[in-house]
Amino acid sequence: MRSFVDLSHDFLKPVLHYQAICVDATLGNGLDSRFFLSQKVKKVIAFEVQQEAIDKSNIQDTHFEVHLMGHEHMDEVIHQEVDAMIFNFGYCPGLDESIHTNVNTSLEAVKKGLALLKKKGRMALVFYPHDQGQQEAQEIESYLMSLNSNQYMILKTKLMNRKSPYLVGIEKIR
Ligand SMILES: C[S@@+](CC[C@H](N)C(=O)[O-])C[C@H]1O[C@@H](n2cnc3c(N)ncnc32)[C@H](O)[C@@H]1O
Repeated sequence: MRSFVDLSHDFLKPVLHYQAICVDATLGNGLDSRFFLSQKVKKVIAFEVQQEAIDKSNIQDTHFEVHLMGHEHMDEVIHQEVDAMIFNFGYCPGLDESIHTNVNTSLEAVKKGLALLKKKGRMALVFYPHDQGQQEAQEIESYLMSLNSNQYMILKTKLMNRKSPYLVGIEKIR
């Protein structure tokens, strides 16, 4: 079976094209940004709070811009509609595990991300089932469940017989 990282990329692929504006809200090791760039999109805007992660991911590409700032401030630097956005919650494998996404800032960022998404745009959220991650997932999911189903279609892909990461995919209908 494909990994949840691959499944999140599969979910976003249909909205990627040479004019697409993409956001990687949690750069980490840069797998998601590299995926967007591999699809020859127009621009990838990434956010990360650790300079070490930005240095380690080491992405040199004229279509890539990275901001050393929390994704909860994304509206300060993104002034255009977005085709695709991804959040990979938690800590960066290989770096300090005490630096991770947090429920309040993550929820704020998801709300801002949905506002920036264009019609037919998609957002992928990959959640991890550790303690802190569970609270984050619960709060974000309960917010998502409150959204108007005429405005957003939201799917959840989860393994039923194992604790594993899982994917929530959102498409903005209107
Ligand atoms: C699970 S990792 C991301 C994995 C990454 N997408 C990849 O492909 O390797 C989560 C990252 O989010 C970063 N992070 C934590 N809080 C953040 C925030 N408020 N804004 C942006 N990034 C944040 C962490 O430093 C960490 O590198």
